[in-house]
Amino acid sequence: MDKFKITGGTPLSGELPVNGSKNSALPALAACLLTDEHVILRRVPQVKDLETMQSLLIHTGARVSHEDGRICVHAASLDNPEAPYDVVKTMRASSLVLGPLVARTGRARVSMPGGCAIGARPINMHVSALEQLGATIEQAHGYVEAQAPDGLRGGTVHFDRITVTGTEDVLMAAVLARGETVIRNAAREPEVKDLADLLVKMGAQIKGAGSSIIRVQGVERLHGAEHTIIPDRIEAGTFLLAAAITKGDVTITGCNPEHVAALTVKMQQAGAEVEEMGSDALRVRCSHRPKAVDVTTEEYPGFATDLQAQYMAWMTLARGISFVTETIFENRFMHTQELARMGANIRIEGRQAIVAGENELTGAQVIASDLRASASLVLAAMIAKGESTIDRVYHMDRGYEGIEQKLAAVGAQIERTQ
Ligand code: EPU
Repeated sequence: MDKFKITGGTPLSGELPVNGSKNSALPALAACLLTDEHVILRRVPQVKDLETMQSLLIHTGARVSHEDGRICVHAASLDNPEAPYDVVKTMRASSLVLGPLVARTGRARVSMPGGCAIGARPINMHVSALEQLGATIEQAHGYVEAQAPDGLRGGTVHFDRITVTGTEDVLMAAVLARGETVIRNAAREPEVKDLADLLVKMGAQIKGAGSSIIRVQGVERLHGAEHTIIPDRIEAGTFLLAAAITKGDVTITGCNPEHVAALTVKMQQAGAEVEEMGSDALRVRCSHRPKAVDVTTEEYPGFATDLQAQYMAWMTLARGISFVTETIFENRFMHTQELARMGANIRIEGRQAIVAGENELTGAQVIASDLRASASLVLAAMIAKGESTIDRVYHMDRGYEGIEQKLAAVGAQIERTQ
């Protein structure tokens, strides 16, 4: 299993380019199943989760090809509308094919995800939303089996709580349903808006994506399209914090500053200088320890749960005590025990982490437990005194493309070992 060896202490300096968004590219690939014509996607990052999604599309019967950095999907016919357990267990976002498959073929069989490192993460809201559109759903032998032999019909979906992939799943189903669908309490994440933009290019009729009420007028068929995926706001946020924690001076390029505004406001309150450089770049400078500033994770446009672990790494070095409250997932504090091995002082009380800032962290051997936890350990290791080894970096490879090359290019002392 690959590890990272990191020697801390070098301030990062230079430019860090941001890739396309993993969490936008995942539903965009699933959306390609909605048409028998070619869909071309640009700026899809080369990360493990997206390789898994492409294998899943191929498993259902689609063809996937790569050309000049673009991905072309051609789902002429779908003989096998299924997401098997072996795939779903490695990537929960596989449930994103449920809506498109049942909308296009009238049936879908998708393995139910089990528990995962950050919480239970069921898909009950995806299932009940599809039932509102007329799908008959049975759950047996660990699979969700959806049937709609006469096609889906529009309906009203009201999510009990906000779900990002749940909103995306039902949106993809609704575009081919007969009549109007209204999705209430929809996720407002930029990735939902990006998916809607792609679907509209494919001929869908959607209003309100990016707000909490989305209206969809179903159409008979969709056609091919070309689309460029939005920048990855979580990669951008991770880089902003990497610059600040190492007391560096870095310009993050190819990002959307608005998408990371909840983070940059907190970073400024904590004493970092964050400056917009035109419409798609942010320069971060920070030459001192941060001030302790509390955060509470929320749905977009609030502070992203996917940046909580990385922000906490920075707060372990703050002057004062900060409270980091996680409201989205019930078990997303696995990184705290590993940060403690590097000298961090963190106490967990229910959904709150109480972080007492220390003068310094020290290098240690630590283990990554999930994608964003591994990013927080990399950040901590880049400022810790001496050498750290981070085990199980395959978690990091699920969502960050070439992370060690990117960080090394701005001065980090990081190498991948076996
Ligand atoms: N939930 C349910 N039932 C459902 C669906 C969700 O109870 O049917 C609960 C979840 O367990 C969670 C909450 O609702 O407590 C919100 O979960 P959501 O459905 O919004 O999460 P998701 O769609 O599975 C996406 C991202 C995650 C990100 C969350 C929250 C993708 C592929 N994944 O997950 O990204 O943390 O939204 O913003 O878009 C990551 O990239 O590291 C990652 C975990």
